[in-house]
Amino acid sequence: MILDILHEKIHLINQALDYYLPGEEEYPQSINRAMRYSIFAGGKRIRPLLILLVGDLFSSPQEKGILPACAMEMIHTYSLIHDDLPAMDDDDYRRGRLTSHKVFGEAIAILAGDALLTLALEILSREDNNNDDCHYLSVYTKTVSAEVRLKIIAELSKAAGVRGMIGGQVVDLESEGKSISSQTIDYINSHKTGALLVSCFRTGVFLGGGDKDDLERLTACASVIGSAFQIVDDLLDLEGNKVKMGKDLGADIKLNKATYLSRFGLQEAKELRDQKFQQAIKLLDYYGEQAMLLQKLVQFMLYRDY
Ligand code: IPE
Ligand code: IPE
Ligand code: MG
Ligand code: MG
Ligand code: MG
Repeated sequence: MILDILHEKIHLINQALDYYLPGEEEYPQSINRAMRYSIFAGGKRIRPLLILLVGDLFSSPQEKGILPACAMEMIHTYSLIHDDLPAMDDDDYRRGRLTSHKVFGEAIAILAGDALLTLALEILSREDNNNDDCHYLSVYTKTVSAEVRLKIIAELSKAAGVRGMIGGQVVDLESEGKSISSQTIDYINSHKTGALLVSCFRTGVFLGGGDKDDLERLTACASVIGSAFQIVDDLLDLEGNKVKMGKDLGADIKLNKATYLSRFGLQEAKELRDQKFQQAIKLLDYYGEQAMLLQKLVQFMLYRDY
């Protein structure tokens, strides 16, 4: 399984996240505990891995990608904490544990999300990333030019913002219980979920020094994967395994969410997923052998069972 093959990269990402997050004993403990609780709850780390594997297409040293990979995982985890809040999807379980607000209360959960988002932008922009235990962290600051670092900050903040993930979340919430057009479903999927995934690919291209054609090709590939990833999330909400998923299923039906699945049914959703998978793999074929692990990760993303 691809996540086993990639365990060393996952280990580096986790080690770096541990370094960046304030310690549990640091004052004020409640929020530091909440940030760590959600970050280390056992997410698959797909987004950080995408940044590293896209960098690998250009033989970019992997140490360069660890810092933006951590920033991306912080932004993603923040989006999950907020997505689960009573005012949003009101979920009790996430990543196999009670949701943040169930354990720490709503106020701390909201602030933990905010703190993860702002910490992500802080580590991307600060100069002091030296650490004896994680010597590779300083590689980013030392070897990535200020121009590229700025481009990455702009990329990730736009993807997380109102023209990206947040915009998608708004339309997702406002579409509950409504019959919406397939364009609106595409908007929801490509924004609430696709935007961050696209920005992982683009960040990998920036780190690796790919050219305009690479950026275009890999952005197209990521858009295809991004929307398909949400369709699979919707499929798993319907027919996944609760224990494997680590959260309650059936949330979309309960909330009357407008999804591709609710509008077009199981068979069409799976067909679209298969189509998008083939499309994405074809685009990656351009990179030959170098893209093998990335293609395996994409396969896992679209045929996962959790
Ligand atoms: C779940 O993302 C939420 C969506 C954007 C669809 P993941 O399936 O990557 O969740 P984790 O990070 O493994 O928990
Ligand atoms: C989540 O979509 C998208 C985010 C930006 C977090 P969902 O609401 O379907 O994700 P799950 O099913 O709760 O993981
Ligand atoms: Mg949601
Ligand atoms: Mg949700
Ligand atoms: Mg879902």
